[in-house]
Amino acid sequence: GPPLRSLAEARKIQIGAAVEPSLLLQEPQYAQVLAREFNLVVAENVMKWGALQTARGEYNFAAADLLLNFAQRNRQAVRGHTLVWHQQLPRWMYGSFTSAEMEAILSDHIRTVVGRYRGQIAYWDVVNEAIGDDARLRSTPFDVLPGYLEKAFRLARAADPSAKLFYNDYGAEGLGAKSDAIYALLKELRARGVPVDGVGFQVHVDSSFSPRQVRMAENLERFAQLGLEIHITEMDVLLSSTGSRAERLERQAQVYREVLQVCLRQPRCKVFTLWGFTDAHSWRGASEPLIFDVDYQPKPAYFALQRTLQQP
Ligand code: G3I
Repeated sequence: GPPLRSLAEARKIQIGAAVEPSLLLQEPQYAQVLAREFNLVVAENVMKWGALQTARGEYNFAAADLLLNFAQRNRQAVRGHTLVWHQQLPRWMYGSFTSAEMEAILSDHIRTVVGRYRGQIAYWDVVNEAIGDDARLRSTPFDVLPGYLEKAFRLARAADPSAKLFYNDYGAEGLGAKSDAIYALLKELRARGVPVDGVGFQVHVDSSFSPRQVRMAENLERFAQLGLEIHITEMDVLLSSTGSRAERLERQAQVYREVLQVCLRQPRCKVFTLWGFTDAHSWRGASEPLIFDVDYQPKPAYFALQRTLQQP
C-alpha cells in the first residue's frame, strides 16, 4: 500500500516520528523507513536543553543540525522539542540564580536556539509538562522567575514569528483534573494575548486505552474552541501481556486506529506523531510499543493507520 506520508497529505494532516539522529548514520533501514513513511520529524532528545547547552553559554548543535538536514533532504517538517521542561536540564541549571539571572538564561537559550532555526521549524514545544499529575504547576529551576511560562512563549515568538508555538503534555488526552488544569492555563494565557498557538497531547498509553472511555473527542473539542491547533505528539502503545500474540498486536492496532480517528474527526487536529517508529528503538524498552517491529517490518498497527487514513 501507499506510504503513510502520502495518505496523510491527502487528508491534510502530517504524520511524524521522534528521531535519534545518530541512528540515521548507523542504520540504513532506520533512515529509509523514516524518509519513506513520515513527513514530520521531532528530535527525541537532541534538542532538549541538556543536550544543546551543556555548559552555560556553550551550545552543541551538531546532532540537531543533522536532523534538520535530513528533514530538508526528505521534505519533512520539523517539530522543535523542547524549550522549557523540568527534565533533561544540564547540571549547571540547578545552581542558585536570581530572577534577573534566570531571565537572562531563559532569553539567551530561546533566542539562540529558536533563532538559529528561524524559518525551519514549523512547531515548537515551548513548554513541556508544566502541570504535574496532581494538576498543579510543577516546581522547576525556572520558578525563581515569575511568569516564566508566558515569557518563554513571548521570547519564542520574537525569535521565530513563523513557528507555531505549543504547550505539550501527557495524561491529558481525556476529560479529567489534569486536562482541566491545562485547559484553564491555556485559556488564561490566550485571554492575556500570550502567543500560544496549539496544544500537544502526547498519548503514551497502554493497550487498554480507549478514547471513548476517557472522552477524548470532547476534550479535544474544548481546546479547539479556545482557537488552539491540536496535535498528537508522542503516541506509543504498550503491548498487553495477556492473550495470544495475534490478539495483543490487534488490540494495540485498535488503540492506534481509534486515536487517529479522533484526530481525523477533529478539524483542528493537524498532526499525528509517534514517539519513535520501530520497536528496535523505544524509550519503553522491549515492550514493542511502535508500528514497525525490530526488523523494520510493518505491524498490524501500521496497517491500521494506513487503512484509517484511506477511509473518507
Ligand atoms: O545520552 C546518554 C548516553 O550518553 C548514555 O550513555 C546513556 C546511558 O544511560 O544515557 C543517555 O541518555 C539517555 C537519553 O534518553 C538518550 O538515550 C538518558 O539516560 C535517558 O534518561 C533519556 O530518556 C529520554 C527521556 O525523555 C528523558 O526524560 C527518552 O529517550 C525520551 O524518549 C523521553 O522522551 C520524553 C519526552 O521528551 C517528553 N514526554 C515524555 C517522553 C517519554 O518519557
